Amino acid sequence: MPVIVIVSESPEKTVSIGENLAKSLKAGNIVGLSGELGAGKTVMVKGICKGLGYDGAVTSPTYNLINVYSGQPEIFHFDFYRLETLADLVDLGYEDYFYSDRGISLVEWADRVPEAMSDAVISIEMEIVSERKRRIRIYSRGDDYDC
Ligand SMILES: Nc1ncnc2c1ncn2[C@@H]1O[C@H](COP(=O)(O)OP(=O)(O)O)[C@@H](O)[C@H]1O
Ligand SMILES: [Mg+2]
Repeated sequence: MPVIVIVSESPEKTVSIGENLAKSLKAGNIVGLSGELGAGKTVMVKGICKGLGYDGAVTSPTYNLINVYSGQPEIFHFDFYRLETLADLVDLGYEDYFYSDRGISLVEWADRVPEAMSDAVISIEMEIVSERKRRIRIYSRGDDYDC
């Protein structure tokens, strides 16, 4: 899998990386994000949402597992932090979102349920380097992604 490694120096830079990545996405795509608490997954999701033309509130759906943001395409923002098994996700009906042709799925804590992520087009791993620096590894499936 091709990989791009970028060091982001600020939350604003992470948002702009997300905005650029959004240009390569289309309905039906699944994007996984991983990295410890505070690594910047939600900041990156905000940037992707902005790049997709959504300018409403974006918050980690830690308790409800999914937030749906309306738009064209719709955005399905997942947070797998509290999930332990694929069965919990199946109960939620996640496949209806993942394999919908109406929207794009953005999944925080994707590594909690890796079995669900086999069709992800992009995996983003975020790592804290210092207070404002984040090392971001972007694995894409074949295509070139512009960051
Ligand atoms: N370069 C950076 N990129 C992203 N976030 C950063 C960066 N530097 C500092 N931060 C801060 O780190 C925190 C990341 O929070 P959040 O995106 O909610 O993390 P996560 O969703 O991974 O738990 C925010 O408070 C953000 O302002
Ligand atoms: Mg988050």
